[in-house]
Amino acid sequence: MSQKREHWSGKLGFILAASGSAVGLGNLWKFPYITWQNGGGLFVLIYLLCILLIGLPIMIAEIALGKISSRDPVGAFDFVSKRKTRFRYVGILGVLSAFVILSFYSVVAGWSIEYSIKSISSDFKSIPYESYKEALTDDRKVKALQKAVFEEALTQPLTDIEKREILHAALSQKTIQQMPFDEINELFKKEKKNLISLLKENKQIETWQNYFLAKRSKRKDFNEFMHKTLLPVYSSSLFADFLNNWPKVSLWHLIIMSICLLIVSSGIKKGIEKTTKFLMPLLLLLMFFMMINSLMLDKEQEGVKFLLFGDPGKLHGLSIPEAMGHAFFTLSLGMGAMLTYGSYMKKDSDVVSDALWVTGLDTLIALIACMMIFPIIFVYGLEPTSGGIGILFTTLPLELFKFSYGYLLAPLFYILVFLAALTSAISLLEVAVTYLKDEWNLDRDKASLIAAGAIFLVGIPSAISVSFMEYPDALSTNIMLPLGGLLIAIFMGHKAEKTLLENEFIKHKYPKWSFDVFYFTLRYITPALVTIVFIFLLSDLVKKIVS
Ligand code: PFF
Repeated sequence: MSQKREHWSGKLGFILAASGSAVGLGNLWKFPYITWQNGGGLFVLIYLLCILLIGLPIMIAEIALGKISSRDPVGAFDFVSKRKTRFRYVGILGVLSAFVILSFYSVVAGWSIEYSIKSISSDFKSIPYESYKEALTDDRKVKALQKAVFEEALTQPLTDIEKREILHAALSQKTIQQMPFDEINELFKKEKKNLISLLKENKQIETWQNYFLAKRSKRKDFNEFMHKTLLPVYSSSLFADFLNNWPKVSLWHLIIMSICLLIVSSGIKKGIEKTTKFLMPLLLLLMFFMMINSLMLDKEQEGVKFLLFGDPGKLHGLSIPEAMGHAFFTLSLGMGAMLTYGSYMKKDSDVVSDALWVTGLDTLIALIACMMIFPIIFVYGLEPTSGGIGILFTTLPLELFKFSYGYLLAPLFYILVFLAALTSAISLLEVAVTYLKDEWNLDRDKASLIAAGAIFLVGIPSAISVSFMEYPDALSTNIMLPLGGLLIAIFMGHKAEKTLLENEFIKHKYPKWSFDVFYFTLRYITPALVTIVFIFLLSDLVKKIVS
């Protein structure tokens, strides 16, 4: 163990660093998406309950465990137990989680650098707005565009002759040519849904797509239509092209890991605290600006209405586990990040108030993120179907460009994503570094280099294939974090001496009842809730594997 431990310079230093860890891609990317999927309203309420009954008690316990022991996640358990205990494996699980999470987190953070640059460079400006014809030389885009044109054409009135020809091409039955038109109309209605696939089967689809495209071009709103249709196609293919360029994705991943390495190796005060003290206020300011911008755009306030009332019909069996898993992820709990940051606290720090600040700020920012993103989705009638990734990197950028000051807004937005991700990534790296420093007696520089290098390598599969990323994400969010959180709650609620936690309340003159409520929740309610949800999640996982 190092002889002299560094400390945060004060309360603000800790709160900004810890909320920097909590506020990240989880708030900007995941929360708005899962809230949308689960219908807002009631889901938000469930999430807030998870934060209050599970997140907050574990946050207090985790920070306290760090502060009391002044040790890394593994050593902290030994210190409090006054001997080597089996609970140290909870710490090892935590350090492993940090590895797993940072390996894919850093890849996604890298995307935000690419998009900050893309939205400043000509990539976004030229194609969708003026030169869609140029884009039509790309085979994939032409195909997607033709499909969109075809789908739209089927919603427009068609002449009887057109209907007959389409049916003839789709069904390739000679009798169709002689059929009376009322029967043709009947048949067309019946087959309408299958037409695209039937035409594809008969290799007639391209002919008809081109026919409709030509027909469409005579209409007055053609340019507007092309623009609207090509926009999402263009945007998704741009994103897919980028993701396929794995050397570039890996390069950004390397750059993110190098920035983290630079900050973390500079130490707690000079590295992490200095960076987060500058970045967090900037992040808050940017988010506030973007939220006001979105709210002004949404005259009917549909975005806010969705957040408050939403569509409870969209809730499903997995909504509660999803809300709970996310509570762990967004608050950086269950894996020793808060414990590690807590271990650099001064002995007179107020754990309870700091935990309340961090939890409150993170929750507030998650809600602000929704108010920033939902209005844009509603105003432009978007359906964020392609996952959380879809909202941030395919639909949103182009929508941002529709504002007259989009060229300012879009880069600002991606810089915001980058900042939020970076302050979280730093904390993940710090978990591994503190572990190597405290348990293996390495100096900070060496520990940072080893940890960052190893995480970079582990992240390469996620950089090469975006679908691979699902595994470390699901493994950490659904299993490792809730399990880690549960064991921390059990350890602090049942194994550690009660007075350790009680003193944190007494020293700062919190009323006795507040400790009693907290302690009871930590001992019984939190573990019971996590266990129930955990069993549910595992049985779902088994079901999925079996089927
Ligand atoms: N809390 C971060 C977010 O919401 O994006 C993610 C995270 C950071 C999870 C650090 C865990 C952690 F230790």
